[in-house]
Amino acid sequence: MSDNPATLIGSSTELRSIDWVDGAVELIDQTALPEELVVLRIDDVAELVDAIRRLAVRGAPSIGVAGAFGVALAVRIYLPDEPGEFAQAMLSLRNARPTAVNLGRAVDRAASRVSAGFGAVLAEAFRIRDEEIAACWAMGKRGADLLEELSGARPQRLMTICNTGGLAAVERGTALGVIATMFERGQLEEALPVETRPLLQGSRLTTWELSRKGAPFRLLVDSAGPFLLARQSIDAVLIGADRVAANGDTANKVGSYALALGADRASVPFIVVALESSIDLDTPTGDDIEIEDRGAAEVVGFRGLAFAPPGTPALNPAFDVTPVDLITALVTERRVVRFDQGEALTPWPLKNGENGIDNGNGGGI
Ligand code: MRU
Repeated sequence: MSDNPATLIGSSTELRSIDWVDGAVELIDQTALPEELVVLRIDDVAELVDAIRRLAVRGAPSIGVAGAFGVALAVRIYLPDEPGEFAQAMLSLRNARPTAVNLGRAVDRAASRVSAGFGAVLAEAFRIRDEEIAACWAMGKRGADLLEELSGARPQRLMTICNTGGLAAVERGTALGVIATMFERGQLEEALPVETRPLLQGSRLTTWELSRKGAPFRLLVDSAGPFLLARQSIDAVLIGADRVAANGDTANKVGSYALALGADRASVPFIVVALESSIDLDTPTGDDIEIEDRGAAEVVGFRGLAFAPPGTPALNPAFDVTPVDLITALVTERRVVRFDQGEALTPWPLKNGENGIDNGNGGGI
């Protein structure tokens, strides 16, 4: 543990959830927030995998960067003498969580530089980190422009789920990055985060980030979301994504689908804000996305408090899938895809390796 949170937090309101500092991975322990701001210092692959699994570091873009730094750790620890241990470390990093495509993609991308040595792997991890940060700033502007186009340049009420801010995306954020941009433009009447059972990323983390920025918000219980969409003037729902399938179906934190149904019924725009590297054209539809089940313990209690009798069986899907016909638009760092206007998710011409997609020919896909 580091007693110097300033390495990641700095003095500005833009925090950084994870970085490589003096030869080790440092990350904000998101399980300790909002009560405590703890920075973990990790120089071991198993410890990093554990941090990803227990959501000390979480959010698709942040776990992608964690995976890439993990490859650098594994190269330093296991190569050249223990190739079997190295292969095992790659597997455990890739499989730490199954739904976010960014994790496996970033691990593979960093691992593609292994033959060039530790320095090259670390440089690739830094490139992934820097691309994600730049993408978040670009998405923020693009998403805020879209909101202005949809509802006019005026203060808006924006509902969101889970945490999609700097904690989830290394810096700035995806959906919450759009909300931050709206705030900075003087166009945020209020943010309406839902608390996000069972691990409360909305109430513990999103409110913490919004408070640090001084942005106006009110917290909702998850089940109030669809009703308030029906009854109040809410301008849009904004969510992030763990994986966007080729047809546009989107996996994100469980509860997103209910908000999409409520938004559709109330004719409120429902907007997905995600990195290009969260788009998985190899997965045809949402039905093909693996949804992580995190087990009963998180449903029947939280931090030692029991919500249900001992032994209560429970289902705990960590994500759900919103079908594309409920999604107004997808905003990425490069484009806005208006599903509501019949646009489809076409492959974007990427350079080889850029945004985590290795198309093998250095050109378009
Ligand atoms: O289980 P979590 O907290 O990792 O889930 C995170 C989300 O669902 C986010 O919305 C998603 O990763 C996009 S983050 C910018």
